[in-house]
Amino acid sequence: MAAGVVQLRPVRLRDGRAWSEVRTRDENQLRPWEPTGTGAWHSRHHPTAWPGVCSALRSAARRGGALPFVIEVDGRFVGQLTIGNVVRGALRSAWVGYWVASPFTGQGVATAAVALGVDHCFGPVGLHRVEATVRPENTASRAVLARSGFREEGLLRRYLDVDGQWHDHLLVALTAEERLGGCAAALVAGARASWV
Ligand code: ACO
Repeated sequence: MAAGVVQLRPVRLRDGRAWSEVRTRDENQLRPWEPTGTGAWHSRHHPTAWPGVCSALRSAARRGGALPFVIEVDGRFVGQLTIGNVVRGALRSAWVGYWVASPFTGQGVATAAVALGVDHCFGPVGLHRVEATVRPENTASRAVLARSGFREEGLLRRYLDVDGQWHDHLLVALTAEERLGGCAAALVAGARASWV
């Protein structure tokens, strides 16, 4: 059960300091699982980098292609959850990605955040499918996705440039009819979370 109240909210320009502090400190936990970026980790996560990152996320959101959220526990910035590549029309699909600050891991925070994000996608956003790609070695993230009901659909060979190398990724997905009662409600029913 998550240690506090888990909420999602849109990213803000004033998240820069918290974002930079956490991501600089947690480089070793985050870098093995994240897409390779340009330049050194430290400079990519300097507080001055955030306005560019934030405005790119917000402009993708304004175009309808993404929903970039901050994960909060008891009002504190503890990570991010992004819904990306939102496609409308007959597909009505998107992907989800996330990270959680190391002092808050192992407490059900990502599981709660994914449940809230997926419910939002299948509810107000009107999507039918949410997918995720995860390295087979990422046991913690696979546990989060499995608990949220994501099914494995296959292995994507040398799919993504992560930490400087091409890595295989599992493709997992969930469709709206597989979670008719909602992901958050399923966590509550399984005594993994409670409503506040
Ligand atoms: N081996 C086995 N199980 C593990 C391990 C491990 N090394 N580490 C954690 N777990 C389990 C936990 O026990 C827990 O399962 P349980 O509740 O059944 O005991 C589960 O994995 C983690 O669940 P949460 O507590 O909800 O997740 P958490 O808040 O700790 O966040 C996350 C998990 C997001 C993967 C975090 O560790 C993180 O930020 N990692 C670095 C970045 C990352 O990997 N992001 C995901 C990339 S893939 C994607 O975005 C789709």
